[in-house]
This record gives sequence, structure tokens and C-alpha cells, in this order.
Amino acid sequence: MTVPDIIIAIDGYSSTGKSSFAKLMAKELGFLYLDSGALYRGVTLFAQEEKFISPSNEINPALEAALQGLDLWFASDNRTFIGERCIEKEIRTMEVSSQVSPIAAVPYVRRFVDAKLHELAGGGRVIMDGRDIGTTVFPNAEIKIFMTAAPEVRAQRRYDELVMKGENPVLEEVQENLRQRDYIDSHRETSPLSRASDAFILDNSNMTISEEVAWVKGLIKGKFNLYDD
Ligand code: CDP
Repeated sequence: MTVPDIIIAIDGYSSTGKSSFAKLMAKELGFLYLDSGALYRGVTLFAQEEKFISPSNEINPALEAALQGLDLWFASDNRTFIGERCIEKEIRTMEVSSQVSPIAAVPYVRRFVDAKLHELAGGGRVIMDGRDIGTTVFPNAEIKIFMTAAPEVRAQRRYDELVMKGENPVLEEVQENLRQRDYIDSHRETSPLSRASDAFILDNSNMTISEEVAWVKGLIKGKFNLYDD
């Protein structure tokens, strides 16, 4: 099927498999994939390394000016970089996960990430995942999905992912981190995580990723009256 130059927004809770799904979908449709969470994670790593955030989550307001010089970008294989340095591994650690939500609640951090997403998205043919893509960043996205899954399924998925990456996670800590991030993400003042009224809900607790792709392709076909080639 030939899909028009649209924007697909995937929002939802932590560890619902948004990024694995969005990456696969982008590959199938020949779309660009943009991981907004990776940008928040990149800002968090930068803030931690440059000591703009304290262990008790106090944020030095000098971070705002420092962001002007932060060269955060994606390579064509989706890896995240600061300048010449690939930070893909560092941004996925529990250390970054433990401070990303307070950082992402700061309005000037959100403005920084939103501007970057707009710059990278260009004229469309892009699929993005995050918390507020369909509500705030691209409210006119043609297809919006709100992903959800049972909390225990999500915690187990994230735990398995960290083990695969060679970390040594504790399941209870992973569960607690997801709970806290979901809470902060849903209750912050600036663009909290919420379902856009025109977003389709996808509960993937008992779905495989290929079932998800088939489901969303069905939505796209229906919306644009497309047929298989
Ligand atoms: O992969 P996971 O679902 O755990 O999270 P992520 O997409 O990498 O996002 C990490 C964190 O960034 C989230 O918990 C949010 O605090 C923040 N975030 C956000 O506030 N808005 C977005 N559009 C994307 C991420």
C-alpha cells in the first residue's frame, strides 16, 4: 500500500513497547522514526554529567542557557548522539531513567525537545513516539495511537530488556521506576501524558508486535481508502 506523507503519533505509558513498534512500522512504511523519549533521556544524561541536576532532583536554571549549545541528534540508524559521541547505551540505564521525568517536566526542556522534533520531522512521512506527540507536539497528526498494557507486563518487558543489555536490574526497582514515571508524566503541568480525544487505544498486553503492525496498518488503510499493492 502507498501511504501518503502523514505523521503518525504514538503516545502512551512507559515500557508499552512504543519504540520497538514505531521502529518496525517506520521500516515497513519507509517512514522516518523519531524517538522523543531519547531526546529527553539525552538532556537528562547531559544534565547529570554537567551537574545541572542534583541527586535529589534539584535543577540548576543555568541548564536552560546550556541547552543552546547541546548538539543532540539522531544518526540514520536511530542511535542518539551528543556531538561526536554515541550515547545510546548511557541513556537507557536506570540512572538516566530515575531522573528523566523531573527533567521532562521542565517547560524550557520541553520547548527544546519540541523544536528539535519539528525541525527533524520536515514535511511528514514520520512516525514519532512519546507522551504528548498527539496532544501537543503534532496535534494535527493524521494517525494517533495511545498505547497501554498491564503494569506487570510492562515491568517484565523493561526488566527483560535491561537484562538483555547486560544490566543487573531488580524487578521491584523497575516496577517502582515505571510507577513513578507514569505518575510524574501524567501529573505534570506542562503537556502531561494523556490520550488525545482522536487517538485510538491499543492495549498490547496480549499482542505480538506483528499483530500490532497489522492492526495499525488496518487503521491507515481504512482512513485513506488504501489497497494492498
Ligand atoms: O521507553 P520508555 O517508555 O520507558 O520511556 P521513553 O519514551 O524513553 O521516555 C522517557 C521519559 O521521557 C518519560 O518517562 C517521560 O518522562 C519523558 N518523555 C516525555 O515527557 N515526553 C515525551 N514526548 C517523551 C518522553
